[in-house]
Amino acid sequence: MADPVKKTAFVIGDPIVQSKSPLIHGHWLKTYDLQGDYKARHVLPEELSSFLEHLLADETAPGGNVTAPHKEEVHHWLVSQTSGTRLTPIARRLKAVNTLYRQDGELVGDNTDGFGFASNLDDRASGWDGELSNILIIGAGGASRAVIAALDERRGPASSMQIVNRTPARAQALVDDLQLSHATVHSFEQLIELAGSADFVVNTSSLGMGATENNITGNKSPLVAAAAAMGPGSVATDIVYSPLMTPFLVAAEQAGAETVDGLGMLLHQAVPGFEAWFGVRPKVTPQIRQLVLNAMGLA
Ligand code: ATR
Repeated sequence: MADPVKKTAFVIGDPIVQSKSPLIHGHWLKTYDLQGDYKARHVLPEELSSFLEHLLADETAPGGNVTAPHKEEVHHWLVSQTSGTRLTPIARRLKAVNTLYRQDGELVGDNTDGFGFASNLDDRASGWDGELSNILIIGAGGASRAVIAALDERRGPASSMQIVNRTPARAQALVDDLQLSHATVHSFEQLIELAGSADFVVNTSSLGMGATENNITGNKSPLVAAAAAMGPGSVATDIVYSPLMTPFLVAAEQAGAETVDGLGMLLHQAVPGFEAWFGVRPKVTPQIRQLVLNAMGLA
């Protein structure tokens, strides 16, 4: 009997060299001893629709991941198709696709970022969603949408969401688009006060990337000042994972809050795609966490 065709999944983005996905999926393929491959593909915006047309036509191609800047455009392309494709409800709600796979003869666009966010917290701060009453979200970009949708699913009926963003109008547009009736938008001026009364704070803004504890004027960064206002019994998490313990998380820990770093979100968001392409649901283990940390020079 002829060997079955070796399935090759992909991650597309522009740029793509920074992606940790080949490392993650390559590790799982080896761990579970599967015949398959996963490759990074540099796809420019002007090449995207032709890439997707080829993918749709090639029924042997299992699918892959989509990263910046293509997540919204892949959603848009799938919406414009008249047959052979489908969007999951969450990808439709977020208007962004990070995972493509085949199911029942269709090419499916899904979004697993919110799943990755919530699963990471389940893993590292079990019970985190038990008493979510006062949620504070910092940032209102693409990543924030997925985080907010996941929190919206897990929150209790009485819990409120406060969203702080440098550009409040962008946060308001997000609230309107996701139809969040219980969310209120604020500017950075309110950040410290809101953090003081929150029981769950997540940083989704890129402000944490490379941010030092103090800014160039010697003042505490707003994220650090906010974290310092948190207290015992609250949970702080950051979707930025380089450095692993961001200044925001360090300050929250010093203030007595429970902290969860963002690396697990990257690992957990990869799980549903791998299962769809290769048929095995992979586990997020300390080994894979260490592998990615080593590759990033963070070990
Ligand atoms: P992503 O898709 O990773 O979320 P994004 O859509 O560019 O990236 O969003 C980045 C987020 O970080 C936004 O909330 C952005 O605030 P604005 O909506 O006001 O742009 C926030 N951000 C980026 N740089 C910032 C800075 N220097 N100070 C405060 N917020 C910042």
